[in-house]
Amino acid sequence: MLRFATPSRLTIRNLSALCASALSFLFLFLTECRTHASGHQDAGSVRSQSQEDADRKSSGCISCHTSIDEPTMHPTKTVLLGCADCHGGNSSLFVAPGTAPNSAEYIAAKEKAHVQPRDASFKDRSALPERTYTKWLRESYDYVKFRNPGDLRVAPETCGAAGCHAKEVRASSTSMMTHTGFLWGAALYNNGGYPVKNTRFGESYDRNGLPQSIKSYPPPAPEEIRTKGVLPELFPLNRWEISQPGNVLRVFERGGTKKSELANPNPEEEPGKPDDKLSDRGFGTELRTDPVFLGLQKTRLVDPVTSFPGTDDHPGDYRASGCSA
Ligand code: HEC
Ligand code: HEC
Repeated sequence: MLRFATPSRLTIRNLSALCASALSFLFLFLTECRTHASGHQDAGSVRSQSQEDADRKSSGCISCHTSIDEPTMHPTKTVLLGCADCHGGNSSLFVAPGTAPNSAEYIAAKEKAHVQPRDASFKDRSALPERTYTKWLRESYDYVKFRNPGDLRVAPETCGAAGCHAKEVRASSTSMMTHTGFLWGAALYNNGGYPVKNTRFGESYDRNGLPQSIKSYPPPAPEEIRTKGVLPELFPLNRWEISQPGNVLRVFERGGTKKSELANPNPEEEPGKPDDKLSDRGFGTELRTDPVFLGLQKTRLVDPVTSFPGTDDHPGDYRASGCSA
C-alpha cells in the first residue's frame, strides 16, 4: 500500500532508519537516535581497539578479579574488550598483589572502582538480593550497567554498541517474552477489563527505568494488523488505583450479599468469601477498581519477566535480567 508522508514524517522515518529498527521506542525517537549515533563513534573505536587499549580498561579490575575465567566474554577473541567497555566503573584503581580483602586499602579501592548502588541492599555482594522487584528500576543507568551489562536498559549501548548485536538487542527488547502484551491483553479483554481485543498494554522501560510505550514504525496497515498480528503500539499499564470496573452491566449479576460500606463493616459478612459482583454501582463509585489491572501489576512484579532480574528465591528464578537472563 502506498503511504503519503508529510515532510515531518519523512524526517522521523529517516531517523528511524538510522536506528535500524522495525519497532522504535516512542518517547526516545530523537534523543535515542542522537545518542546512538554518538554511541556508534565510541563503539566503533571499541570494535577496532588495540590490545593495549583493552588492557588499560581492565588493568585495575584484574588486580582484584585475578582469576576471571574469560576476561572479554568472547573466547574467540574476535573483539578485544576491557572490563570497563561493558561494565563501566573505574579501571585505574589497583591494589598490590596480596592485599587482604578486608583491609581498609582494599575496601577503599573497591568502593571507588565499582559504580555504587542507590539502595544499600545491593552493596558489597556478588549475588543480587532476593525479590528486588522495583528496586532494580530505581537504580541508576550506570549501576545497572555495572551490575549487568546485558540488562535491557543498557544493552543497546553495551551488547548493541558498534552494531555488534544491535539486532538481537532490539528484538529481545520488543519480544513478547519481554513485554508480555499477549498475557495482559488476554486477561484484560477476557475479563472485561479493557474493551479492545488487540493488545494495548505491554511492559517496557527506558534507560532511566521509567515505563515507556513501544511503537511500530512505520505503523502497520489495517491488513497487517488483521492478518499478521502486527500491533501499532503498546502502552504501560495504568496505575490500578485509577482503573474502573470493566463492565458496568455486572451490577445485574446475582452475586453474594450486599457489600459493606466503607467504615461501616457488616458483622454478618462471611470472612474470606468474596462477593461475586464487581460492583453494585456504576463507574467511579464506592472506590471500586478493576481487579484485572491490580492483578497484572502484581504479577508484573511477583513473577517478573526479562526487564527485571529473577526473584532469586527459588529454582528457575535465579537469573539475571535482559540478554543475560
Ligand atoms: C562483553 C561485555 C563484558 C566484558 C568485556 C566483561 N564483562 Fe563481566 N559481565 C558481563 C555480563 C553480561 C555479565 C552477566 C551479568 C549478570 O549475569 O547479571 C557479567 C558478569 C560479571 C561478573 C558477575 C556479576 C554478578 O552480578 O554476579 C563479574 C564479577 C564480572 N562480570 C567482572 C568482569 C571483569 C573483571 C571483566 C574484565 C576482566 C569483565 N567482567 C568483562 C559482560 C562483560
Ligand atoms: C579493590 C578490589 C576490586 C577492584 C579494583 C574491582 N573489584 Fe569488582 N569486586 C571486588 C569484590 C571483592 C567483589 C565481590 C563483591 C563485593 O565484595 O563487593 C566484586 C564484585 C564485582 C562485581 C559483581 C557485582 C557487585 O556489585 O558486587 C562486578 C560486576 C565487578 N566486581 C566488576 C568490576 C569491574 C568492572 C572493575 C573495574 C572497573 C572492578 N570490579 C574492580 C573487588 C574489586
